[in-house]
Amino acid sequence: MEIKKYTFQMHGDERGQLVVLEKDKEIPFEIKRVYYIYDVKENVKRGFHAHKSLEQVLVCVHGTCKILLDNGKEKEIVLLNNPNEGLFISNHIWREMFDFSSDAVLVVFASELYDEKDYIRDYKEFLEYVEKQKF
Ligand code: TYD
Repeated sequence: MEIKKYTFQMHGDERGQLVVLEKDKEIPFEIKRVYYIYDVKENVKRGFHAHKSLEQVLVCVHGTCKILLDNGKEKEIVLLNNPNEGLFISNHIWREMFDFSSDAVLVVFASELYDEKDYIRDYKEFLEYVEKQKF
């Protein structure tokens, strides 16, 4: 599976670091929504869904977490542990987020507003959905 992990330019100087994310530049879509996840309790796993249309870029701006990506055939785990790295997740990818450090802050940039109808929350349904996309 192709993993699109970005390394963002750092505009650092003696005062510290600064990272810029702009639509159609660092983020390959128009950002319609931003949300963030933090204070995740020990051993908690989140996500467990795929999207029909939504695209996202995940940035762990503080701390660390892992993201499991699953295209229905292959699975890969990506470690996010750097505020200047981003993980692009296309539609039709099942994701699970886990191993959050207690100080982790995971920021998500999304291509669409929140729409529960865009979610596939059942793994079996996800497998059937990606299978159907081939025809
Ligand atoms: P949930 O889908 O459980 O988050 P995760 O992907 O981390 O498992 O979302 C938690 C709650 O937040 C759920 O009630 C839906 C709500 N929510 C919104 O209202 N808007 C949003 O943009 C998101 C991502 C979630």
